[in-house]
Amino acid sequence: MARAVKFDRYGGVEELKVVEVPTPKAGPGRVVVEVVAAGINPGEGYIRSGALHERWPATFPSGEGTDFAGRVVEIGSGVGGIEIGAEVLGFTDERASHATHVVVPAEQVTLKPSKLDWDVAGSLYVAGTTAFATVRAVDSQVGDTVAVSGAAGGVGSIAVQLLRARGATVLGIASEVNHDWLRKAGVIPVAYGAGLIDRIRAAAPDGVDAFIDTFGAEYVDIAIELGIAVERIDTIINWEAAERYGVKTDGNAAAGTIDVLAELADLAAAGTVEVPIAAVYPLDKVQEAYRELEQRHTRGKIVLHP
Ligand SMILES: NC(=O)c1ccc[n+]([C@@H]2O[C@H](COP(=O)([O-])OP(=O)(O)OC[C@H]3O[C@@H](n4cnc5c(N)ncnc54)[C@H](OP(=O)(O)O)[C@@H]3O)[C@@H](O)[C@H]2O)c1
Repeated sequence: MARAVKFDRYGGVEELKVVEVPTPKAGPGRVVVEVVAAGINPGEGYIRSGALHERWPATFPSGEGTDFAGRVVEIGSGVGGIEIGAEVLGFTDERASHATHVVVPAEQVTLKPSKLDWDVAGSLYVAGTTAFATVRAVDSQVGDTVAVSGAAGGVGSIAVQLLRARGATVLGIASEVNHDWLRKAGVIPVAYGAGLIDRIRAAAPDGVDAFIDTFGAEYVDIAIELGIAVERIDTIINWEAAERYGVKTDGNAAAGTIDVLAELADLAAAGTVEVPIAAVYPLDKVQEAYRELEQRHTRGKIVLHP
């Protein structure tokens, strides 16, 4: 038997439980991975709460989880180029990675670079490919000044480093507790709260060229007020503001491919991108993991160990 996180109805973290399930079988074109580490993402909490029922309904009992890293333990017919025991990272589209075992199409895994930490590998897909999409969406160029809200979160912490790698000056909007981490990443920290626009203008006297919003709230309004062109503003959460102003909404769906994941894995293994691991929880503590995530003050990623 395998073990997997499930919930039987919409609700709070208390709906999450770990249950025994049959160990998945590979089937044609698929591989079974024994999961070593699996990241958690805010969207999973929104789905579990029912808030996204219109957009992405759940069917019950529902599993959860997209990101994972682990070892291949079974290979289905027709799959080539991968061996039992291979260390891989990847993603599932079936809300199923928060489990001891996950079965996915073979093209949804890529070999884990040996230097890549398991926890980083297991939490790279959603946040990393989303960050990649946001940076591409705002077309960041050498010499640009780009502001990022939620700059130390799962998506933001990766986005700011990708922007630096592309030669941008980066303003990272975050609370004081994250300012040292941002400075070390070459980012100019800016505290959020009253007076934010003035602090952004003071930090970027020649203006801000692009804005990536990974937090929501009033950040798209602020980007508009700063005079940034709508095609250089990307929000991954505020659909209402995006519709109102016509700004971009590129996120995971725009860059969530195995090729982008492999590129990010190489960048993380090389140390070009650091993914801070805020906390690691055993699978049985999944409720606590989401309680921490739902405080919305995570630096980097929270990871489950099945
Ligand atoms: N559209 C997509 O494809 C897509 C993909 C992934 C995620 N998302 C969404 O994007 C959002 C971010 O995801 P994530 O994984 O990065 O979340 P996360 O890791 O939970 O982000 C937490 C960050 O938010 C910051 N924060 C809290 N209050 C803030 C405020 N008032 N202003 C600015 N920053 C604030 C925190 O910084 P401090 O500790 O400094 O306060 C923390 O670093 C979520 O809503 C998620 O659902 C969308």
